[in-house]
Amino acid sequence: MDKQIQSQCSQRFTARKFVERRVLASYFMEVNFMKENTDRIIRTGYLVMGAGVAGLRAAVELAENADVLVVTKEGLSESNTHYAQGGIAVAMERDDVPAHLEDTLAAGDGLVNAEAAELLVTEGPLRVTELIEWGARFDRERNGELMRTREGAHSHPRILHANGDATGAEISRSLVAAAMTHPRIKFAEWTTLARLLVGNERIVGAELYDRENYLYRVHARAVLIAAGGAGQVYSDTTNPAVATGDGIALAAEVGAELADMEFYQFHPTALSLPGVPRFLMSEALRGEGAYLRNDRGERFMVAPHPLAELAPRDVVARAIAREGIGEGGVTRPVYLDLRHLTDVDLHKRFPGISAFLAQHEIDIAKDLIPVRPAAHYLMGGIRTDLDGRTNVRGLYAAGEAACTGVHGANRLASNSLLEGLVFGARAAKAMLEDCAGVEVGSEHAAIVQPICLTPADEEKLEELIAGLGKTMWLNAGLLREESRLREGLIAVEEYARELEKFVEAGKGNRRLSEAHAMGGVARAILLSSLARTESRGAHYRNDFPHRDDVKFLKHSNLSSDKVEFLN
Ligand code: SIN
Repeated sequence: MDKQIQSQCSQRFTARKFVERRVLASYFMEVNFMKENTDRIIRTGYLVMGAGVAGLRAAVELAENADVLVVTKEGLSESNTHYAQGGIAVAMERDDVPAHLEDTLAAGDGLVNAEAAELLVTEGPLRVTELIEWGARFDRERNGELMRTREGAHSHPRILHANGDATGAEISRSLVAAAMTHPRIKFAEWTTLARLLVGNERIVGAELYDRENYLYRVHARAVLIAAGGAGQVYSDTTNPAVATGDGIALAAEVGAELADMEFYQFHPTALSLPGVPRFLMSEALRGEGAYLRNDRGERFMVAPHPLAELAPRDVVARAIAREGIGEGGVTRPVYLDLRHLTDVDLHKRFPGISAFLAQHEIDIAKDLIPVRPAAHYLMGGIRTDLDGRTNVRGLYAAGEAACTGVHGANRLASNSLLEGLVFGARAAKAMLEDCAGVEVGSEHAAIVQPICLTPADEEKLEELIAGLGKTMWLNAGLLREESRLREGLIAVEEYARELEKFVEAGKGNRRLSEAHAMGGVARAILLSSLARTESRGAHYRNDFPHRDDVKFLKHSNLSSDKVEFLN
């Protein structure tokens, strides 16, 4: 490792350890106190599920007026936000705002909610400026100007990045630091949503599992779901293990409507090495000029799209799938090729990616990098208005878990961190406005602690989850058709029946909760994909290969297993 990379890595390591120690200290004191009091009931002003960019930004806003509990499934740094590499798209020059809007609308394939996109591009620069004031260090040119790069389907270089390819980690670090300066924000790490609590026709809190599978009940004025996406429903994903869609599935269980669940974005370029996780090969590599080549050495993106390797993600991902497709999945490799980029110090520009590749004896500057698509980002989610309100009183959502329609059928690269900042802040403002007069509950009914799963149960559960991932990859992946989607639905129903056997035996733990959530999200994806009998953005039907604006220039809405299409 060269000296500069080493020093960047150790700086990041030190910052993370520092924050983790403080969080763990404050959290465990409180949890131990609760445990000693045996009833495990907590009261707070607002409950925020998720400590990614949307959850933390919301928490900072809420804490100006109320106590906030931020719950996260692992350590504070384990979120999709933390792993985001490429950067954050933002029009820092006023005259770039219309072009950013236009690019966002174009990538979304006709389905972007223009009002949401307008808010994203106009409020985005304010939110990023504020983040910089709070200490986020984006990479800068020698003259101090913010460095900007270009990614797929952007007409200009407008992507800010940090530490080369560790943008999410830096944004997460600065937001955690900002949140921790508020004495009114408390964190609960290693804590998972078990169910949302309903009372007086509104959400009044939630039950949560701690790390040891003890259930806690939290009473709050309102709950914000900012718990991210659900990449783990697919066997191949760039998402971390925590991305199991808990917030989305449990919101649906209390009656929240889900929108656009058929639109799952498959990132074109995840590392494809046997036995190695699908590590993201950032779009920024192609932004710097990387080529995609098939196993005959041809640049196969030149013919299908004028932007070639920088075409929208859905186009590139499908082209890769078609290049390599064989029965049952991708069989022929495709490669990223950066060998011609001799005027860029690739090790310095992409320190994280370069170090990961080096562990597998691939030199980013000298070798071809084998890649394949992987599930990356859910454009759909809990239907919200532009201020995070769902159709259930007291329940709000922001970030990847939510669907404002801002991404339409296909998210523009690097728009998601910006979405989290803008809509996280907006949701928090709405919560304060709507719920200021709501009394926090104080009901003390006993918590029913489920029976632990045995090691054999746990093994069986992992098998079921792995089977679900494969089913979804095969039946609701990049190229879909009715028969496959129906097969997927049958398999998901069987999966749900198997899980029910645990529940009937009175068993439960955080992993079983995650398994339920993944089943719920998978079912929502399959039902919505079956209903959209056209191809648009990330949703491609072999049996309906064309876009049908007459019938489907609308958002899908899933409620009680019924899909409707709404404007
Ligand atoms: C990437 O770096 O390619 C991912 C960024 C994004 O998903 O927008």
